[in-house]
Amino acid sequence: KSLTIGLIPADGIGREVIPAAKQAILALGSDLPKTEFVELLAGFEYFKRTGTALPDETVEILKYDCDCALFGAVSSPSKKVVGYSSPIVALRKELDLYANIRPVISVRGNEKPSVDLVVVRENTECLYIKQEELTVGPNGKEARATRLITERASRRIGQIAFELASKRPRKHLTVIHKSNVLSVTDGLFRETVRAVPLLPEVNGRYNDVTVMEQLVDSAVYRLFREPQIFDVMVAPNLYGDIISDAAAALVGSLGLVPSINAGDDFVMGEPVHGSAPDIAGQSIANPLASIRSAALMLRHLGYTKGADRLDIAVDQVIREGQVLTPDLGGKSKTEEVVEAVLKKI
Ligand code: NAI
Ligand code: MG
Repeated sequence: KSLTIGLIPADGIGREVIPAAKQAILALGSDLPKTEFVELLAGFEYFKRTGTALPDETVEILKYDCDCALFGAVSSPSKKVVGYSSPIVALRKELDLYANIRPVISVRGNEKPSVDLVVVRENTECLYIKQEELTVGPNGKEARATRLITERASRRIGQIAFELASKRPRKHLTVIHKSNVLSVTDGLFRETVRAVPLLPEVNGRYNDVTVMEQLVDSAVYRLFREPQIFDVMVAPNLYGDIISDAAAALVGSLGLVPSINAGDDFVMGEPVHGSAPDIAGQSIANPLASIRSAALMLRHLGYTKGADRLDIAVDQVIREGQVLTPDLGGKSKTEEVVEAVLKKI
């Protein structure tokens, strides 16, 4: 058996942190089967050169030749660029990676209060279907976006969230929504997720999971004041995106928070952060989120031993606090942090 991993560094610090994850995986040696890496193209830089952000070849190689993949980050412009569309959003749809799982955990032990939660973000719909239109009416320009929430997507993300909650010590799930205002779309999400334990195939398995609900705005408030009340948080796409960046602030840096994009037959690791143009090219990007994303990806595929070794190495480097990038108050370069992690592995 062998393992083929697609690497899509894309833009900005994605190109600095994905090689770090590759080195960490290589250091696992015989804890993994024979491993091959395939470098794949995508991103805004690639779009500027070629007119396409996600070449067909990348998608095909991922689908037919790779067992899993690691994605860095893309620099999507805030202004509309004709012909450009975010390749990460497209990949999630194309590969049906419907669950974005984002664990946020404090490891230094000196944060008050300490955080141990997982954001389970629906990854294929909501406002991210990007059906926007601009018309001109009596009030000038009118911009509209369609927000899609389906029963199917809400049910399957709900199933992932309940399953995850049932396996964690606290067995607690919070459903994030804004049904008090958006009673049709968020109402469908809320009802469908809450009904998951009643599905016939569940067979009482989630009876010991406690369920709470929290409106998204007050969820952010409570996240900052009393993050310990949260265990698993399940949310529609946009809310999940925002909540996970907010949660990252509680543990010290976006550069620490990993994720996987998971579907029924493919998994793609991806640090939660973006391409960080403010620090790109300076060799100071924190590579730990990327290495942790590799660990999550390997764990998802059943390579528990390798995943544990990566996580333990990262945790040790953070706890010791000697070799850290500037986002965590350190003075070290990306490569020095990678070296420190490799030594621990
Ligand atoms: P960002 O996550 O790139 O950066 C936010 C802040 O966190 C910046 O100050 C940055 O320096 C810092 N930061 C992020 N990752 C870090 C790391 N590993 N080490 C040290 N510091 C780190 O978010 P921003 O600035 O809002 O977006 C920049 C670009 O990234 C945009 O073009 C956006 O479209 C794109 N983006 C892409 C994502 C993806 O590919 N999945 C996700 C989020 C944003
Ligand atoms: Mg985000």
